[in-house]
Amino acid sequence: MKIMQVDAKAGRAEAESAEMLVLAHCEGETLSKPDAFALDKMLGGSLRGLLQTSEFEGRVGEVLIYHTHGKVPAKRLLFVGLGKKTSLTLDAIRQAIGHAIKRVRQAKAGSCTAVMPAITPRGHSPQDVVQAMAEGAILGNYQFTAYRSDNGTPIDVERMTVLCTQKAQLRQLTEGIRRGVATAEATVLVRDLCNHPSNVMTPSRIANEAKKVAKEEALTLKILEQRDMEQLGMGALLGVARGSHEPPKFIILEYNGSKKKDERPVVFIGKTVTFDTGGISLKPAENMEHMKADMTGGAEVLASVRAAARLRLPLRLISILPVAENMPGGRAMKPGDIVKTLSGKTVEVQNTDAEGRLILADALAYAQRYNPAALVDIATLTGACVVALGQFAIGMFGTDEKLKAQIRKSGQTAGERVWEMPLWDEYFEQLRSDVADMRNIGGRGGGMITAALFLSKFAGDGPWVHIDIASTDWSERERAYIPKGPTGIGTRLLIQYLIDRSL
Ligand code: BES
Ligand code: MN
Ligand code: ZN
Repeated sequence: MKIMQVDAKAGRAEAESAEMLVLAHCEGETLSKPDAFALDKMLGGSLRGLLQTSEFEGRVGEVLIYHTHGKVPAKRLLFVGLGKKTSLTLDAIRQAIGHAIKRVRQAKAGSCTAVMPAITPRGHSPQDVVQAMAEGAILGNYQFTAYRSDNGTPIDVERMTVLCTQKAQLRQLTEGIRRGVATAEATVLVRDLCNHPSNVMTPSRIANEAKKVAKEEALTLKILEQRDMEQLGMGALLGVARGSHEPPKFIILEYNGSKKKDERPVVFIGKTVTFDTGGISLKPAENMEHMKADMTGGAEVLASVRAAARLRLPLRLISILPVAENMPGGRAMKPGDIVKTLSGKTVEVQNTDAEGRLILADALAYAQRYNPAALVDIATLTGACVVALGQFAIGMFGTDEKLKAQIRKSGQTAGERVWEMPLWDEYFEQLRSDVADMRNIGGRGGGMITAALFLSKFAGDGPWVHIDIASTDWSERERAYIPKGPTGIGTRLLIQYLIDRSL
């Protein structure tokens, strides 16, 4: 998909000659801004009329097109609702622009100008607002048509210009747009990678995608092949890959934008299972196709390191992707098999479908060599996460209060909110094995927690957070800026964390 161009300019709405002029409006408010005032006057009071007759009320998701018939320079106006003024959030703005852009596309307009909303959500700056606008526009415009012969040239909105009133604001707004474009184009990459089916997006193809990113952004890239992993002793990752004909990969990308010498890095690890059949503990057929997106975590850490480089963030970031396909082939792991992890700990594999924690165990152990300032793993780890949190919250675990607080805050800004779950050692009794150091499933109850606790045994003593995105990685319905299918949720959380950390 070509990424929409987003820019900002200063000017007045009533003088703006746009194909479509987008005006965001809060529910129950009258026309208050000088811009809308002037427009209304030129249109003979009909905008006021629309509000008075409640043809347009301003609820989130509401859109209304108004043809100006040459009475103002803009051909059409597009009203979008922001909801109640008192509870205005950044995400309401993101959603409103997402809805708006779809309407612009439907109307076959190739570009639009969006007027900066008159109010800024509490605790945020106009810079945050335009960032959210850019995100809403690019992500609301997302389509995956790579395999559709009927739809080779999707209609796309090519440009959105944000209109503000003061020239002095432009520098700040341009920076907000730059950030919004970076987080959105990263999310687009993740959605694309997850949408491609597993017969295309194999571990080898993931390695090629990583090579492409590394080359474009001049990142340091290291790829461990199967024999390297054997030499190192990554028995858990190798165990998962055994049932597949696709060779596993272990990918490490490094971006260094730090000015300090020897800065401790942030390390991201993303679960990259290109397809999860469950292995010998085979999954039921229903919805199994969703498991092509069991690589979301890996796609997100790949997209994050690309975004960090594009934004030239002043930090050091290492992204690690343990990549495998979980299949029930003739050489596959079987329940009861014991594997020796890179850390030296042994694991009894009671269920081959609990494969994510196995590949992450080796990746977490590997990450210790970098002495990370912060270690964050992100994974579509458990069905229990879906049961516990539904579609609107991401599961978070961790030992470091400061890191958890930072992630929580970045999640709020990004509109990808995390919810903390307990990481209490009491639960570990569920992971005890009769024959190995631990087993890979925790039995009934607390499935998201026992999975996280399993990981904690490999995460070392430094600041570590585990993020379970099984709840949010796939959407059953299309929303304002979230498509049906792979959502890429978690990407903006990670990048916002990096941005906030750099400030
Ligand atoms: N990839 C799945 C988790 C998942 C489920 C992600 C639904 C997205 C939607 C994971 O590998 C898995 O199969 N987990 C098992 C663990 C169980 C065997 C302990 C699960 O949650 O059922
Ligand atoms: Mn599984
Ligand atoms: Zn899985």
